[in-house]
Amino acid sequence: MTNINRADTFMLGGRTVKRMGYGAMQLAGPGVFGPPKDRDAAVKVLREAVESAVDHIDTSDFYGPHVVNQLIREALHPYPDDLVIVTKIGARRGEDASWLPAYSPEALTQAVHDNLRNLGLDVLDVVNLRIMFDPYGPAEGSIEAPLTVLADLQRQGLVRHIGLSNVTPTQIAEGRRICEIVCVQNMYNIAHRADDALIDDLARNGIAYVPFFPLGGFSPLQSSTLSDVARRLDATPMQVALAWLLRRAPNILLIPGTSSVAHLRENLASAEIDLPGDVLQELDGLGWSS
Ligand SMILES: NC(=O)c1ccc[n+]([C@@H]2O[C@H](COP(=O)([O-])OP(=O)(O)OC[C@H]3O[C@@H](n4cnc5c(N)ncnc54)[C@H](OP(=O)(O)O)[C@@H]3O)[C@@H](O)[C@H]2O)c1
Repeated sequence: MTNINRADTFMLGGRTVKRMGYGAMQLAGPGVFGPPKDRDAAVKVLREAVESAVDHIDTSDFYGPHVVNQLIREALHPYPDDLVIVTKIGARRGEDASWLPAYSPEALTQAVHDNLRNLGLDVLDVVNLRIMFDPYGPAEGSIEAPLTVLADLQRQGLVRHIGLSNVTPTQIAEGRRICEIVCVQNMYNIAHRADDALIDDLARNGIAYVPFFPLGGFSPLQSSTLSDVARRLDATPMQVALAWLLRRAPNILLIPGTSSVAHLRENLASAEIDLPGDVLQELDGLGWSS
């Protein structure tokens, strides 16, 4: 059994990235809306991530909106050559902080330009099309129209690579007939495993799977098994949850989100945790897949 360490990598948009990255959504204000309570602290988290060799940051211009991308620019621009910034388009925020679809050609084009401006880039490394037929989980329906717009923006040189988020296997297959899809970002964690078969299929095709809510998101993971295992391994439950994801499949890239330097350090250190076979079996029993 090999130990996962921070040097473990996978391909993301033609670049090799470490499997332990960072998700920036938690840096906005409450409800992912407005500015953070402590701007300096948010900048510190971003700088510490990159100083700790994180080379994959996940963001969107609809976090804040605009706030998180502007923080990333303030903290990290000019960016290290090896940093891959992945953003997403396809949604917008209502004045009441709601999450709304934004798929018209004008909205998608505007979103790409907003990301470029707020991140301070000439071209975006990877853009995920976030599908919003049901904002809370994948729902069937053709993605051809918005994806064709994004593929056109790629042809114009504004976007290097394209991914999909909140999608079904049928939509991924449809997407792959339109353009190359380099990553899929769906909800998945040790307790919520609806995408088990999909992850293995993407691994066979060399496509990265980037689970969102790896720690449970707005409802952090809680389980007596997770706590017991953590105690035995001298780790925290969140570290065990991340270590399990790293063991789950080689194409899983992690983007745990945090607004705290202490949690960032803890999350990065989970890449060093070895999970013996019997522990893995115990943890495998935690999930449900519907
Ligand atoms: N494509 C999509 O639709 C979509 C949806 C949601 C998220 N995302 C992306 O996925 C990333 C990850 O998701 P997420 O940030 O929402 O959820 P997450 O990573 O599952 O969990 C984040 C929550 O866990 C807490 N936390 C983090 N590390 C911890 C630790 N070591 N110990 C205890 N608590 C800890 C954070 O609070 P603290 O700030 O206090 O640490 C925060 O409340 C986001 O940042 C975003 O980039 C994408």
